[in-house]
Amino acid sequence: MSEPLGDLTRTHTCGALRASDVGAEAIVLGWVHRIRDLGGVAFIDIRDREGVSQVVVRENEALMAVAKRLRSEYVIGVSGVVQRRSEDTVNPKLATGEVEILAREIRLLNEAKTPPFQIAEDGPVSEDVRLRYRYLDLRRPRLQHNIGLRHRVSIAIRKYFDANGFWEVETPILAKSTPEGARDFLVPSRVHPGEFYALPQSPQIFKQILMIAGADRYFQIVRCFRDEDQRADRQLEFTQVDVEVSFARPETIYGLIEPLMPEILKEVGREVPLPIRRMSYSDAIAAYGSDKPDLRCGMEIHDLSEAFRDAEFRVFKQIVAGGGVVRGFAVRGGNRYSRSQLDVLVDQARQMGFSGLIWARPGEPPLSSVKSLGEATLRPALDRVKATSDDLLLMAAGPAEGTSKLLGQLRLAIAKRENLLNPEAFEFLWVTDFPLLEYHAEDGRWYSMHHPFTAPLDEDIEKLESDPGAVRAKAYDLVLNGSEIGGGSVRIHSAALQARIFQCLGITGEEAKLRFGFFLEALEYGTPPHGGIALGLDRIVAILAGEASIREVIAFPKTANAVDLMAGAPSPVDPKQLRELHLKTQN
Ligand code: AMO
Repeated sequence: MSEPLGDLTRTHTCGALRASDVGAEAIVLGWVHRIRDLGGVAFIDIRDREGVSQVVVRENEALMAVAKRLRSEYVIGVSGVVQRRSEDTVNPKLATGEVEILAREIRLLNEAKTPPFQIAEDGPVSEDVRLRYRYLDLRRPRLQHNIGLRHRVSIAIRKYFDANGFWEVETPILAKSTPEGARDFLVPSRVHPGEFYALPQSPQIFKQILMIAGADRYFQIVRCFRDEDQRADRQLEFTQVDVEVSFARPETIYGLIEPLMPEILKEVGREVPLPIRRMSYSDAIAAYGSDKPDLRCGMEIHDLSEAFRDAEFRVFKQIVAGGGVVRGFAVRGGNRYSRSQLDVLVDQARQMGFSGLIWARPGEPPLSSVKSLGEATLRPALDRVKATSDDLLLMAAGPAEGTSKLLGQLRLAIAKRENLLNPEAFEFLWVTDFPLLEYHAEDGRWYSMHHPFTAPLDEDIEKLESDPGAVRAKAYDLVLNGSEIGGGSVRIHSAALQARIFQCLGITGEEAKLRFGFFLEALEYGTPPHGGIALGLDRIVAILAGEASIREVIAFPKTANAVDLMAGAPSPVDPKQLRELHLKTQN
């Protein structure tokens, strides 16, 4: 049996009471967190979003009867007087731990079934159960913290853009397909049989049209939809901080986004030294084998080809002579690996796709897994990777990009396994000058690496038709701790160049007109040079919260299988609804 809320009005949150409140009257409202009944005395911990307060029931038979009925997660209102806790019950771990409320009234506002997992403890619970009962999961301290952090980060972002003269403009959700490389979610039109809206993969075209419309500086915290495979850092619907600026060069965007980062990190009490480092795409691939390098562990990949050009080791020598490379990196602290550990490492490398991984230990003389490699080759190689006496040199040979990419994967795997990625560090990086296009052999055509509205570097435009793979773009990604937290570019603002790019992508004039005709037309009405970026809000908050998956910072995420386990979506619909939408399903 529950009672009405009546006139019970909160005076304090459950996290607010301090020693300075002793003697005050307090009314708190919340959930029973824990209850201890010691016979004549009962202690009830009451919890709300802000924290936990201790309520004590003493020498009051009527109230003891109420207390005896309470169970975890019952909803109650308590009024009473704040008093100092006795010495032995002070809890220094709790912000409210010096005081308690001596209850005068406890109103049972609602009962609760026994939850399928403990709310008071952050113990291990299967993710499926957590997502099925997300409302209970969201009551737990970890998610309360994450959702609160996400709110504060969003507010900090809005304040920053407002202070810098940006307008937040909403763009349509029922829209036309925007090419970002994923599949579209389609929404059938009831009014126009056989026609569909597409949910935006991003507001890309609309934000560019806003620049044509003279909005000058736009941002939006906006939901985007992409029908792609789910991963720890990918959801079907996710949130971008979308930005576009007129008269922008890449530096304009760096200059606007960099000062935002300290504003965001302030929310977790951290600072960001500015400016943020920049590295070209080709340098990032060569030195880290990745376009989103994690800079927290050093271990840069170096080119060692020179050292091997005249080495006694035929395999490497031949690869170098044939135009290939030898590359390697120093594993921090790797000199302590035993022979059997090294054998395991070499085996692992083979499974990752290495045709061979060679190691060398510094020392007098240096030792290597290849006996024929002498000091004259090893010493310069060890020097080149700046190996200390504690380190281990790992080397591989082959085509330049492939060799760096494999070494990059190995570098990350070792860094993770050896705990070399400091969870407290925040290493930002701009990766710049991405290739404009990438070739997909399976369908024999070029695709945009970013999206088809990205401008080529001025000096590379002439190579568009003759050597498309060599054209670099005015495109950049923002990387934090090895995660791509943002991507953007300066855009094409000339209709003629835009049409030329569509041609390079094998999109016929007719198709371009059908898909983007409105946009190509808009470009002809005085488009200012412009550029922008979109930041992945979910990824940023997950990194700040120290979470491995963005699901932990989204209130209602979908499973890895793209299902909303709580609401039960997707689900079949009524045949009548299908008929109205002019749809027939096949099964
Ligand atoms: P892009 O596709 O690089 O660029 O997306 C920008 C950022 O959004 C985040 N992100 C995602 N986060 C979670 N789940 C996903 N499925 C997902 N996909 C992307 C990433 C990424 O860096 N219109 C362009 C931006 C522009 O050019 O201004 C765009 O959408 O952090």
